[in-house]
Amino acid sequence: MKVLGIETSCDECAAAVVDGGIIRSNVVASQIPFHAPWQGVVPEIASRMHTEWIYGVVETALNDAGLCPKDLEGVAVTAHPGLLGSLLVGLHFAKAFAWARDIPFIAVDHLLAHLYASRLGYAREESPDGRAVSPEVPDYPFLGLLVSGGHSAICRADDFDDVKVLGTTVDDAVGEAFDKVAKFYGFGYPGGAVIDALAKNGDSGAFQFPMPNLYKIGKDGTDHRYDFSYSGLKTAVVNQLEQFRVKKRGGTGETAARSADPAAAGDAEARDIAASFQKTAVEILLRGLFRAVRDTGITTVVAGGGVAANSCLRSRLAGHEKLRVIFPPPELCGDNGAMVAGIGERYLLRGDRSPMNETASARVRAFRKRYP
Ligand code: KG4
Ligand code: ZN
Repeated sequence: MKVLGIETSCDECAAAVVDGGIIRSNVVASQIPFHAPWQGVVPEIASRMHTEWIYGVVETALNDAGLCPKDLEGVAVTAHPGLLGSLLVGLHFAKAFAWARDIPFIAVDHLLAHLYASRLGYAREESPDGRAVSPEVPDYPFLGLLVSGGHSAICRADDFDDVKVLGTTVDDAVGEAFDKVAKFYGFGYPGGAVIDALAKNGDSGAFQFPMPNLYKIGKDGTDHRYDFSYSGLKTAVVNQLEQFRVKKRGGTGETAARSADPAAAGDAEARDIAASFQKTAVEILLRGLFRAVRDTGITTVVAGGGVAANSCLRSRLAGHEKLRVIFPPPELCGDNGAMVAGIGERYLLRGDRSPMNETASARVRAFRKRYP
């Protein structure tokens, strides 16, 4: 079934065509340069740019797939979670497209779509580097390691639309921690890829940062053993920057302004900080994940979300002797339309349809949330 997928939940304006789980086209127009001066996504700018770009992005996705609008058999769109104004642009474009062509329309959850990304394959001619890619499709149930800029969770997936959160972050998402640390150090935006690159030549043992300990049963009996936290790590790494500045001033103890100041840490120190932070950030995730593996007996792990591109996370899990770990290819880790089209195709083939009064929601809908 030829399905158009539209993704505008944050700062990527994306559209793709998937047919039978095979990606026919995948266009991602990133707004990063427009948000970079603010070192974070500016919601107002994001929704305005989606409004300007969405038509051209969809047109390019159709052209790349060699299709006309009349060839499409369904439209899928991210409706939650995300920035409300941005979501609404994609949602209404998708509705209008489906209505005009009289084809079915389905609204999907962004996080379920991230977990679906690794199931998609490429036909030979559409693959980014010219080779056919047949995905290593994981059987259900599997443990999902969902790691993005807005959300982080360890979950149990029993089907593409049946996912339960076992543990989640109690404060920052892991990608958010990368972005915030990079912002404080003035490394650049978004922080994940920059820290990943810096860390490659750094010493991950140079600094010992704290691991949070949330392993407890709550008063109400809720089990927090798979939960994690990034605010303590983030604060420790940021405090280290203050120490560098004090050292540079000859130990005067003068309070440094919290402005981005890449020179403050010096090149070698910057690389060591990046490597030490990244190692701890990954260990925090893995501790919860390995607990979940041990307790559930599920040994297949599927990663999804922007942080799934992280080289340290990938190398820590690759070749794990007891686990089968599946990562999406790097271009399907971050936000993209293919994952939306892919999961949308599954719903549509089952006969699911969204009503024309479907609305967007900034918050997670498909997941049971423990922390409101
Ligand atoms: O899934 P995504 O594209 O958007 C959300 O749904 O949030 O994830 C974006 C996040 C950002 O926080 C970005 O810094 C992070 O993914 N990221 C990385 C890497 N590439 C992107 N984090 C760590 N290492 C990377 N290589
Ligand atoms: Zn995402």
